[in-house]
Amino acid sequence: MNRRAAVCFALMCATASMTLFVAACTGNSSGNNSPPAPKQAPPFWDDQLDHNWIYRNQYKTTMRTLWLDCAKIVTMSRGQGAPDYALVEAYAKDISSRADRLAMRWEAFAAPGKAVVEALADKDWLSANAENETFGKACDSCHLETWSPIYQHATKEIIGKWLRNEIPSAHDSMLNEGEPPPAVENRAVMQAMLVHHDKTEAAIIAKDASAAIAHVQAIMDIAAKRGKRWRDLQIAADALARLAANKEREKLRQAYQEMVSHCHQCHQVHAAFIDPKTPPRAVLNPMPFD
Ligand code: HEC
Ligand code: HEC
Repeated sequence: MNRRAAVCFALMCATASMTLFVAACTGNSSGNNSPPAPKQAPPFWDDQLDHNWIYRNQYKTTMRTLWLDCAKIVTMSRGQGAPDYALVEAYAKDISSRADRLAMRWEAFAAPGKAVVEALADKDWLSANAENETFGKACDSCHLETWSPIYQHATKEIIGKWLRNEIPSAHDSMLNEGEPPPAVENRAVMQAMLVHHDKTEAAIIAKDASAAIAHVQAIMDIAAKRGKRWRDLQIAADALARLAANKEREKLRQAYQEMVSHCHQCHQVHAAFIDPKTPPRAVLNPMPFD
């Protein structure tokens, strides 16, 4: 299986409820429906023929927004005059709410995970299977929110059809445009979780409770750690927002540094390129508070 097919395979297997994408992966591309090439290079605000956005994953867009929020906080607090407290508070709150949302996405595994483990301990295979399906839906909901449209098979061809008011058939799309993004640790963990999820399912079918519990637990551990990372960031961003609301200027720097330490800590582990030959990533960590 080549790399692209492997990604396609990984994606289509991501969870049982993604069968729509399975169809999309195996379909044929006719190749005749490509939309006309954009007339001009971006940026043009309303150019619907600019299809580059379909390659951008929403997770990265969130990250870049976090980065901009941090940059705004630093620039608003800089210089001799009083900081623009209201804006510092607003940007810190934006970081808080985005971190809260991602924390929640990971915390969503705890309750169904516990239910799977309890059903397995009782050797109640039917409930274990049902709870495990619910467990997997927490993967889907984050993916629909974070993946790029191309990961979800919204190819240029499909978008061209929509623009021409034609209905694409379920088999029109393939993940055949462009290379997969470079591998980062984050996605390696995702692939590992998919393997655990598949093995949980297989162990339930084989009525092997202890193996199934081990695989569910492995996903729950990953989810708990990720959830905590985002929760810690959210708490630190809230603390910064409160200081700005109270106009406590002398405490802003330290609170900012505490907040961005959570960005740094997560990036060190999860955002690095896996291939050691790839140069380190350029724009990643938020700017220092100088
Ligand atoms: C819990 C983990 C985690 C936390 C906390 C976190 N990030 Fe990230 N960040 C990631 C991962 C994973 C990537 C790599 C995503 C990818 O390449 O698919 C990333 C990538 C980025 C990028 C690069 C995006 C790009 O497209 O090049 C920026 C910028 C960024 N993060 C900013 C921030 C800022 C600012 C904060 C803190 C306010 C933050 N992140 C907190 C996990 C995290
Ligand atoms: C907080 C959000 C979130 C959760 C929860 C989540 N994922 Fe992901 N997943 C992502 C992001 C972001 C990507 C990378 C998308 C990209 O690079 O365009 C990804 C990518 C993947 C991929 C493709 C990896 C590759 O080869 O590039 C697989 C497979 C996957 N996830 C499986 C899972 C499974 C299984 C679960 C549940 C146990 C899960 N994910 C939970 C956000 C999440």
